[in-house]
Amino acid sequence: MESGVGIERLATRARVLVVDDDGLMRSFLEQALTRMGLTVQAEPSAEAALEAAGVFEPDLALLDVRLGGMDGITLLGRLATAVPDCNCIVMTAHGTIEIAIQAMKMGASDFLVKPFAVDALEVVVEKALGVARLKRENKRLRARLRRRSSAPCIVGKSRVMLQLQDLVRTVARSPATVLVEGESGTGKELIAQALHVWGPRKKGPFVKVNCAALPDGLMESELFGHDRGAFTGATGMLRGKFELADGGSLLLDEISEMEFVLQPKLLRSIQEKEFYRVGGSQPIQVDVRILATTNADLVSRVRDGMFREDLYYRLRVVPIQVPALRDRRDDIPLLAQHFLQTASAENGKVFEGIHKEAIARLMDYDWPGNVRELENMIQRAVVICPEAVIGHEHLLWDTPALPADRQAPKHQAFAAGRTLAVHPALPRTDGGALSALPDLPLRELERLWILRILEEEGGNKSRTARRLGINVRTIRNKLREWEDASHARAGALS
Ligand SMILES: Nc1ncnc2c1ncn2[C@@H]1O[C@H](COP(=O)(O)OP(=O)(O)OP(=O)(O)O)[C@@H](O)[C@H]1O
Ligand SMILES: [Mg+2]
Repeated sequence: MESGVGIERLATRARVLVVDDDGLMRSFLEQALTRMGLTVQAEPSAEAALEAAGVFEPDLALLDVRLGGMDGITLLGRLATAVPDCNCIVMTAHGTIEIAIQAMKMGASDFLVKPFAVDALEVVVEKALGVARLKRENKRLRARLRRRSSAPCIVGKSRVMLQLQDLVRTVARSPATVLVEGESGTGKELIAQALHVWGPRKKGPFVKVNCAALPDGLMESELFGHDRGAFTGATGMLRGKFELADGGSLLLDEISEMEFVLQPKLLRSIQEKEFYRVGGSQPIQVDVRILATTNADLVSRVRDGMFREDLYYRLRVVPIQVPALRDRRDDIPLLAQHFLQTASAENGKVFEGIHKEAIARLMDYDWPGNVRELENMIQRAVVICPEAVIGHEHLLWDTPALPADRQAPKHQAFAAGRTLAVHPALPRTDGGALSALPDLPLRELERLWILRILEEEGGNKSRTARRLGINVRTIRNKLREWEDASHARAGALS
């Protein structure tokens, strides 16, 4: 359709989350919205929707008010925090107009009174997506301005960090492909930004694609774009990230999660600087510098047959390792001060500094979540601290196994304490002695541990992944694997 309501232009890539407990309504909306060229995900409950939203990152959500568990209005508030850019439309039954008004007051961009016709749906959705698009565009422009005006601020005076910055400056000047490796939260993305901004392409675009964020099957058109009619729902042409990065740099974030079937096409595109859009017959040439990051061990992925060896070597022309924070403790006070400054400015507060004792505790801790964990800790302290100086009592440590005085334990004790405290199948010990762990294969311990955290997080896979410092896709794959194994076992028994 050159759509009657002009949705096509707006919505080639828009994602819509539908939440309704009525299966018929869900499939009606799914069909109608898909026909409008939108990508739709439908969920039967607020809880399921919240979990899906973290990964799906909808531009728009259509929310039924009366749902089985949490209601649509509560969900509206929760979505505003989880996906701040998502616009919401509330669907109410006839006679509950007050609810619609309440929803609008809470930030819904529009409402639909059930039952409604497809035409009414299209008008309301188009309007909301128009607003979403403007907001997105605005944000993108502002972010671009910020990026152009300010080089990334890499804080760190430890020997390793000074060496790393020298290396980054040198490598930035070359067109070589770089693989940035390091634990989660070490600053890999920041390094990748510096590689772009400190090099000759700084005026060109810096485009990032998170290889873990999209469900399988959508990544190909995200990267390479698609031509009109390439598949059902492809009502317009879409430029992929490769094209958008022309003249600049393309960051393949979390490259270890790239779908295996796409890896050959990616390799060819990098080598030949040429690719085809999905469904396209014309080759497209681009001048793109490739940067990639990984916190997973790519060598073992290659060994396990999950990552192509040729692609691995093609990406790792220049490897850059970002050290864990515990291996550059001298940077901890500097980073803490830096985050104190930014967080206090954001919160409109003024602080004199951080107490020596608090600094000592920060330096004593092993930071499994690295710089990001430190940043979060200081942000929390800024919010809760009513005094002019941040003290150790304002440092809220993440682990449930910490003693009441919130003292930060050494890494080993921390890891053991956390492991032992949380899973009932894993006995507690007093001194954090690992000898008390049940004599189970490592794989089984891993399985119990992931399930335990998943349970604690109410089944929310994204939060679980964040807590465990692994990728949400890894969790999904493992769950599927365990499920298959248990079906196989059940099958063998019956
Ligand atoms: N050296 C540094 N100086 C200042 N800020 C830093 C530094 N390193 C990391 N940060 C900040 O810490 C946070 C995490 O960094 P970043 O996102 O680059 O980590 P990452 O290694 O890509 O993490 P992940 O593997 O989880 O994606 C960001 O807010 C970043 O700005
Ligand atoms: Mg990152």
